[in-house]
Amino acid sequence: MRSKLIAGNWKMNGSLAANQDLLLSIEKALGAPACKVAVCVPALYLAQVQHLCASSALLWGAQDVSAQEIGAYTGEISATMLRDFGVRYVLVGHSERRQYHGETDDVVALKAQRALAAGITPIVCVGETLAQRESGKTAEVVKRQLAAVIHTNGHCISEIVVAYEPVWAIGTGKTATPEQAQEVHALLRAQLVAASTQAERIAILYGGSMNAANASSLLSQPDIDGGLIGGASLKAADFLSIVAAASH
Ligand code: PGA
Repeated sequence: MRSKLIAGNWKMNGSLAANQDLLLSIEKALGAPACKVAVCVPALYLAQVQHLCASSALLWGAQDVSAQEIGAYTGEISATMLRDFGVRYVLVGHSERRQYHGETDDVVALKAQRALAAGITPIVCVGETLAQRESGKTAEVVKRQLAAVIHTNGHCISEIVVAYEPVWAIGTGKTATPEQAQEVHALLRAQLVAASTQAERIAILYGGSMNAANASSLLSQPDIDGGLIGGASLKAADFLSIVAAASH
């Protein structure tokens, strides 16, 4: 059976003081969770999170990684640098990176490759915009996004995590219904199964306005193996409720 993963995506939020409060509140209540729990934090705070979480069950991740290995790439952070700070996960291809930073499917695939080579699990984000959904293109878009990662990463593909995040549901308070999400997750699962004999172990997370109230119904779907949580990961109580919903 796949173990569930609840990953927070703090995005560009936080400060040394606020992070400390949030992390200590989460850790205090977390104990030994029945699922994997991680927070993906701004890169500058990885050292702080490493320091504060080293002896807890809380894992940590980054929100982006360079597609390059090393060298003259001003401002970039490599996968091996992330590894130095105990990073277990890295988000790649988040829709905000695709939209505001022009990340293409090929760049996302390379970033996943760099992460895997450094022993970090890439959480590969895919998802359609509202216009794409309304014009019946959801399946085509998410399959194209995932296909690039499968193509570049071949036999390592069973080491990734996938996150289905409909762009229209991110930060909007509009969540995909459990049935809508499951339909896309099943498509992604079928695509992974066709690519790898190990595909049943790949976790497919749902992201997009997941919160304490809707987490249980989403997480009870057969192909929803966890959540990528934005807004609700910034409040310890909300995040912990989602972790609890994933632990049944
Ligand atoms: P949200 O963000 O939970 O605030 O919708 C999810 C994400 O962008 O990963």
